[in-house]
Amino acid sequence: MTDRSGIFAGDDPFALTRRWLSEAEASEPNDPNAIALSTVDAAGMPNVRMVLLKDVEDDGFVFYTNFDSAKGKELAAAGKAAFVMHWKSLRRQVRVRGEIARVADDVADVYYASRSLKSRLGAWASRQSQPLASRGALMAEVAKVSARHGANPPRPPFWGGFRITPSEIEFWADGAFRLHDRFVWRREAPDLPWKITRLSP
Ligand SMILES: Cc1cc2nc3c(=O)[nH]c(=O)nc-3n(C[C@H](O)[C@H](O)[C@H](O)COP(=O)(O)O)c2cc1C
Repeated sequence: MTDRSGIFAGDDPFALTRRWLSEAEASEPNDPNAIALSTVDAAGMPNVRMVLLKDVEDDGFVFYTNFDSAKGKELAAAGKAAFVMHWKSLRRQVRVRGEIARVADDVADVYYASRSLKSRLGAWASRQSQPLASRGALMAEVAKVSARHGANPPRPPFWGGFRITPSEIEFWADGAFRLHDRFVWRREAPDLPWKITRLSP
């Protein structure tokens, strides 16, 4: 048993993440849902970049991107990823490691449709992570896809969501004199119970 109380209390790490995220929404200047998403390429070389966490489900974390991007290929090949979310205003972080799967098409369609028209067309126009001759070439591509798809573009087949189903979630909060609090939740499989361990800072 662990002596969890206060900000660490609760029996559901997804609910706990949502609680911390909603506190961060009140205190962060922008993008409280930004996560540093880590992948690994075919040679084992790590990679990391920011993306926006769009949903904390009952058993997973969802973000959206281009499937043909560097990260899209690395996620598909490895089937695993990690991310960290850090809030300077709260002095807290949440770390997640787990298995990757694509979000169902109908779920991705709903999210895509909720985005602004410019963002929807931008997703069509950008060959994310590929070389680009100039900003002008990108704008010409935006004009081309706008003419082709008009005001109601369908979700591009190369764009959608990924879900991380975690095997590990760590909640970290700053403590005085670097004596931080850390609680890691681990499970051997998604249908097995979480084991919670307090870690040394
Ligand atoms: C705060 C922030 C949020 C971002 N959100 C996303 C996102 O949700 N999806 C995405 O594909 N790229 C997002 N980006 C851009 C990525 O960091 C990255 O440049 C892009 O996805 C290409 O990465 P890749 O070449 O490793 O695939 C975001 C960047 C920042 C700084």
